[in-house]
Amino acid sequence: MSRKQLIEMARHSLAHARAGTIDQEPDVLKVPVEHYFDESRWKAEMNKVFRRLPLMLAMSAELKEVGDYKAMDAGDVPVLINRDNNGEVRAFVNMCSHRGSQIMAAGKGNTHRFTCPYHGWSYNRQGELTGILSSKDFGDIDKSCYGLTELPVLERAGLIWVITNPKSDLDIAQFLSGYDELLAHFSFETWHHFASQVIAGPNWKIAYDGYMDLYHLPILHKDTFGADFPNKALYYSWGPHQRVIGPDPTLAAYEDKPEEEWPIPHLMAGIWTIFPHVSIAGFDSGGRAVLISQLFPGKTPGESYTVQNYLMEHVPDEEQIAAATSQFEFLKYVVQEEDYATGIKQQKAMQSMAKDHVLFGRNEGGGHNFHRWVDTLLETEDADLNSLFQT
Ligand code: FES
Ligand SMILES: [Fe+2]
Repeated sequence: MSRKQLIEMARHSLAHARAGTIDQEPDVLKVPVEHYFDESRWKAEMNKVFRRLPLMLAMSAELKEVGDYKAMDAGDVPVLINRDNNGEVRAFVNMCSHRGSQIMAAGKGNTHRFTCPYHGWSYNRQGELTGILSSKDFGDIDKSCYGLTELPVLERAGLIWVITNPKSDLDIAQFLSGYDELLAHFSFETWHHFASQVIAGPNWKIAYDGYMDLYHLPILHKDTFGADFPNKALYYSWGPHQRVIGPDPTLAAYEDKPEEEWPIPHLMAGIWTIFPHVSIAGFDSGGRAVLISQLFPGKTPGESYTVQNYLMEHVPDEEQIAAATSQFEFLKYVVQEEDYATGIKQQKAMQSMAKDHVLFGRNEGGGHNFHRWVDTLLETEDADLNSLFQT
């Protein structure tokens, strides 16, 4: 079923390539400049987008074995993700039940128990409180009531989504809107995590706008990707999640072949974004690889940071390590010095309020969809959240 969708998109892309056309939005969209810096709007986005929706916080490739864990901040919430004794992924607030210390330092490792650095309480891989230091002195409490606070989590397509609100009843599978079935064609669960790096950026929406924007490629990136890069884009969406590809004439090579033979890497080309904060883009350095960028809001509306992760289909040999390393450095340079350097200047210019809105053309459908979804989420009450994602 989902492979059929990949073929349909490929045929659609080829038809547009031949005709020299794209799909256009009905109108040019105006987005008020305040949407990128207004403090109260930004707070609403934090509460109604980042604290309510599942975030793709980890990749299965980072947590392959029982006992593997990853501790990190997801916006304001310290999160601890691990693979428990049954091989299931769990997520917790990284907070001790005694007096709230963060238990694990940010980073990754493997452990059979999580021990708090403050007074030594310990928790097992299922998050149960198993050890209270000097428990006779401390006094009696019901240990079963003082495990780690569990967060909703779902592992699909080799990716791990977590909702940072423990009380959420949002159905993560429903939120994915079938998009995970498409992403499953990468087979990320068998891939290798090569490296990660962090880049500071502008308002999260300025950064995200750029991920879906092919219009800028031959201009802003003329010295890196090259001035010959096409600037045309085709957008496909599943709920709020969007894929973007260019009209691709090279797909003609498969036209006379049975559909089962159309190769998956080519069918998975382009940028795959996961709302509200992830982008996945394919590369071929050191073997088949992807850059998975996880975007997080910073401390103020005008700041964000992005964790770039390089995932490789196979464990690289020495030569491939060198190729992957230089590709990964190149991608940091492009995003930091071209995309985010531009974004930080956009941020400043918008805050001057010289203009009251910015524009997304009829050719920039990804931005239309993205901003519509953010607006919709800000207007949606908690009780209606699940119904937004019904297909
Ligand atoms: S705060 Fe964790 S043991 Fe005291
Ligand atoms: Fe860019």
